[in-house]
Formats: sequence, C-alpha cells, structure tokens
Amino acid sequence: MSDVTLNINGITVRADYGATILTAAHDAGIYIPTLCHCPDVSSIGVCRLCLVRIESRRRPEPACRTIAEEGMVVVTDDPEIERLRRVILELILSDHDFNCLLCPKSGQCRLQELVNRIGFKEHRFNRLDRVAKDLPIDTSNPFFDFNPNKCVQCTICVRTCHEIVGNDAIDMAYRSYDIRVSTFADQPLNESACMSCGECMERCPVGALVPKKAEYPNREVKTTCPYCGVGCGLYLGVRGNTIVRARGDDESPVNKGNLCIRGRFGYNFVDSPDRLSLPLMRAYDEFTQPSSVVEVTEEGRPVTLPLVKREGKFVEINWDQAIKYVASSLAHYKGEEIAAVSSARCTNEENYLFQKFTRSVLKTNNIDHCARL
Ligand code: SF4
Ligand code: SF4
Ligand code: SF4
Ligand code: FES
Repeated sequence: MSDVTLNINGITVRADYGATILTAAHDAGIYIPTLCHCPDVSSIGVCRLCLVRIESRRRPEPACRTIAEEGMVVVTDDPEIERLRRVILELILSDHDFNCLLCPKSGQCRLQELVNRIGFKEHRFNRLDRVAKDLPIDTSNPFFDFNPNKCVQCTICVRTCHEIVGNDAIDMAYRSYDIRVSTFADQPLNESACMSCGECMERCPVGALVPKKAEYPNREVKTTCPYCGVGCGLYLGVRGNTIVRARGDDESPVNKGNLCIRGRFGYNFVDSPDRLSLPLMRAYDEFTQPSSVVEVTEEGRPVTLPLVKREGKFVEINWDQAIKYVASSLAHYKGEEIAAVSSARCTNEENYLFQKFTRSVLKTNNIDHCARL
C-alpha cells in the first residue's frame, strides 16, 4: 500500500508507510550507492555511502536508515554529497588489499561497482595506506575462505549469522583500525560454532568471504535440493556438464533463498566416481553370474546358503534382478518380522506412500527413516 508521498531529485515518489528513503528511491529506479546495506537483514548504517540531503535537516542522513516521510524533499547526488561519498570511498580503499585481477569476486564486487559509480581519481590518503596489514587468511573451513585483508567491515556477515541463521558464530572484534570479523576467541572457522551454511559468504559484498571453488557457471538450472524432505528451492550453476555452485531460490516459499551446508555445498556426489548407478550385491563363489542370485530352490527359498563371500566384493546387478531378489527374500517373512527404513532424501509424498505400503501391505508398524542426518 502506497501511503507516503515524497520528492526525490524533483521526482514525485510514493512509498509504503515505514519504508526507508533507500527503498523508496530504489523502487522508483533512483540509484543510491550502498555497501553495508543488505535487504535480507536489518540496516545499521555503518558505511555512510548512502548519505542523502534532506530539506530542512542540517546534516546529510543515511538513506538506508531514514524513514521516508510525507512531503519530504530529498536530493541524492548534488556535488557536496558526491564529494562526501568520494572521501568515504577513498578512506575505505586506503587499507584495502587490491588484487582485483586475481580476486575471486572480481566482476561481482560491490566495491568495484562503487569505484565505477562514484569515481576514484586521486589517492589522497596515501599516508593512511596500511595495505601491509597482511592478516592471515582463514582457510580452515572446507567450503569457503575468509580473507580479512579484503574485508570492508560492513558487518553483513555478522548480521546474517545472527538474524537469519541464528547461530552467532561470528562478531566484530577489536577496536578502531584493528576491528575485524572474528569467531569466539579468534578460533579458526572450523573450530568455531560455524555450521558452514555459507549464508554469510553468499551476502559478502566483496572478496573477503569466497567459496574455495570459485568457478562461475555458464547457466543455471532451477531445481529442488535432494538432501531432505524440506525441499528447499535452489539454482544449480552449471559449467559444461559440471555443477560448480548452488544458490538458494529467493522465490521459494520453503527456504526464501536460504540454504544449509548440504544444499549449498553438498553437490559433489553428483560427479563422484564412487557414486552407485546400479544396485550392488555381494559376490559369492557359488554365483559368478549375477543373474543366478534370483534363482529359487525347490523348497521355495531363495538360494542364499551355503554361500561363501568372495573377498567381500560386490557385483552389479540390474534393478529387475534386485527387486526380484528382495521380493523373493521378503516373501518368507510377514508382519512384525519385517522392518522398513525410508530416507529423508525422499519427498514427503514418497515417504507417505512408503509408510502406507509398510502398514497396509506389509502389515507392520516397524518403520523408521534417517531424518536424523
Ligand atoms: S574485493 Fe573487490 S575491490 Fe577488493 S580486490 Fe577483490 S574484486 Fe578488487
Ligand atoms: S557459514 Fe553460516 S554459521 Fe558459519 S559464520 Fe557464516 S552464517 Fe554463520
Ligand atoms: S567479511 Fe564480507 S560481509 Fe563480513 S564484514 Fe567483511 S566485507 Fe562485510
Ligand atoms: S548503505 Fe547506508 S550506511 Fe551503508
């Protein structure tokens, strides 16, 4: 519902009651630069790059933290505002570890975008340059790295971990120039409370939190996470015939763009050479031909004894053989003698059908599944 009318750069703009100037401007197609703003988490206004001038107010205000009011007159880019933004940007850049060509974020980096938009002509803060900060890069997490030398202290990762993940694995630590993102007691990420969900990495605007395998996909495929019955919506990024990344589907009502460690990073099994593509059966000396395992003796029992396992090896059989073998084995049991185990990787519908089959056809309530992953 549009219930506030204001004027931005001479344009009449309508905004929802309670919306910020930033939201009102962006919805109206008016660009205001941001660095610490992330629409998924609350705004705290630390970077000050979104400063705008508001008529009748003495000082510029951060658009991401200022509520749009009826009749407000806002200017987003007069020479004074641009000068302020340029100074702020120069200060941010004065201790940034530039290595854009080799940076995994290059091309998708908000800082690069800001330099292009705001401009960075002179290096007036040379005396402040402390690029030699040279803090150690935390590579302990198996899925992503944290390079504090590229961090711009926007705190989006901290707010993400607190507000979206609810884990509080990281926070801002130390003071002044030494302030940085840290785990509790400055432990490496893999020794901290971090659950490796990658939500912080997904929102980091620069190259500070980046995936270890930073390949850009050539196309994306919309799909559903195969790991559990929650069924989070995701996009798989594909390069050639290989999945190189996964991201949550913002429009999925199930997960609203968020993913856990399995959905975001657990796709390597797709190309694993260890992946089973056919049912396997233990090879026995008596059965060198896999098809023979489905033979049944005159007594009507499956031929399973006497058998000697051949060095613990498995032989491949096809699905018809596997199903026939399992069915013929199960035929000798009934009711409570049978137990069924389903999988949390099935859909809710598949699990429903399986429990129905177990209770109604197999006549047993002995059914469980592996949801406790
Ligand atoms: S974070 Fe951005 S600005 Fe910094 S080196 Fe990487 S690409 Fe360049
Ligand atoms: S990966 Fe997830 S749990 Fe770990 S710090 Fe980031 S948001 Fe928090
Ligand atoms: S790691 Fe990234 S998201 Fe976190 S404070 Fe630094 S720049 Fe911001
Ligand atoms: S985006 Fe508004 S203060 Fe950073």
